[in-house]
Amino acid sequence: MPNILVLPHAEYAPDGTSFEAGAGMTICDALLAHGVEIDRACGKVGACTTCHVIVRTGFASLGAVSEAEEDMLDRAWGIEAESRLACQALLGGEDLVIDMPMYSINHAKENV
Ligand code: FES
Repeated sequence: MPNILVLPHAEYAPDGTSFEAGAGMTICDALLAHGVEIDRACGKVGACTTCHVIVRTGFASLGAVSEAEEDMLDRAWGIEAESRLACQALLGGEDLVIDMPMYSINHAKENV
């Protein structure tokens, strides 16, 4: 079972956390199952980018990125080469380090 290390995030995990999660589940479901209430405004259907995460370690072990996910990621705040939508990224067998961006598109809109 992959170990998931979540880096500290002021809102979702102030001290960071880590847990084990089953391969084949999404990063989003794994986070939620372990008390990390990541934003998921579209109901986890890959249509909002509020669940954007950056996978600092283990990126290559995740399930493939679809074209639709890539298109949505282009709209995310703070996108990086290892960005994924947590609701679309399936866990593989490797340990991960997850970094949640400071803002989502929701925050960006609220702060304009
Ligand atoms: Fe909307 Fe993941 S919850 S894209």
